[in-house]
Amino acid sequence: GEEDLRYKILEINKQAALFYVKQLRSEKGKQGLAYCAKRKLSGESITHFGLGYAGKERDSLYQYCKSLGFKDQVLQESGLFSFKENGVYDKFFNRLIFPIMDLHNRVIGFGGRVMGDGEPKYLNSPETKLFEKSRNLFALNFSRKSRANYFILCEGYMDVISLHQWGFPEAVAALGTAFTEQQADLMKRFNSLIYLCFDSDGAGKKACKRAISILREKKLEGKVIRLSPYKDPDEFLKAEGKEAFEKRIEEAKNAFLWEVEEKKTEFDLHDPAGMQKYMESIAELLRTSFSDPVERENYLKAVAREQMLKAENLQHLVDKEEEKT
Ligand code: UTP
Ligand code: MN
Ligand code: MN
Ligand code: MN
Ligand code: MN
Repeated sequence: GEEDLRYKILEINKQAALFYVKQLRSEKGKQGLAYCAKRKLSGESITHFGLGYAGKERDSLYQYCKSLGFKDQVLQESGLFSFKENGVYDKFFNRLIFPIMDLHNRVIGFGGRVMGDGEPKYLNSPETKLFEKSRNLFALNFSRKSRANYFILCEGYMDVISLHQWGFPEAVAALGTAFTEQQADLMKRFNSLIYLCFDSDGAGKKACKRAISILREKKLEGKVIRLSPYKDPDEFLKAEGKEAFEKRIEEAKNAFLWEVEEKKTEFDLHDPAGMQKYMESIAELLRTSFSDPVERENYLKAVAREQMLKAENLQHLVDKEEEKT
């Protein structure tokens, strides 16, 4: 039945993960190891995260799983293979492999990176009976064990591994999709403070804003880590090292105040009409973000102080918005 199938997919995933690990350490895996070295991944990180290598043959995992006696139906449901008219092919080939584990350290899916340039840069397992992307976070199985009372939420596999390697085992990442409410719930079981560490490009900022509204809804505290002038935490750490990142954690900005700072770039503040729209947008953000009057007032005061606006004026705009609804 259903349970039996789930169990068999888990078993295939485990065998596949072991297969990829073995390949990385074999003659064929040289290119994979060279890529790890190029990305400055330590041997310890490679072992800890169970990194592997999918070789250039198009069906080596398939042949291996067949030899272990797995039936085609199970192989199909695992998401690891493409069943085509002219044969069955491995989904992952010529890629560095990142196993994705659930809270019980069971492999539920994989990510794979091309070595060098190529499209797509990352390939992820499709959703299966076991693998729901929106309900899992990469490396949560490790980071939940950290003694710290927070998580660092970043974008990618490489960011997470790099952060762990540099002494920040609190790092997790969403799985190639936008951060979800279920992922927030999952984190909330362990910690209530989340440092947001998304890429400093446009896509990263957009993802960050989205994550902030989810955290707020879930009553989790969010703080935003500034990475500039670097693009992501992996690049930051390679360039600046551990202590510089610790400093960025200390300097991390209250998520709401970060949002306001970002809003600022959308308006021309030298123009009174632009200034008006800017202040109205802050008032709107204050109104929709905080239902508790005390909390709202605390934020209003903080924004007024930071942005050098009159608190009474902001309050006036919030009240005006309130009346409309
Ligand atoms: P990025 O494009 O920021 O890549 O995607 P990265 O993590 O910095 O990777 P490197 O440093 O170039 O190796 C962030 C995350 O988005 C997902 C992956 O989970 C990736 O880690 N992603 C990205 C995909 O799923 N597919 C893609 O083609 C690209
Ligand atoms: Mn903890
Ligand atoms: Mn990115
Ligand atoms: Mn990167
Ligand atoms: Mn990146």
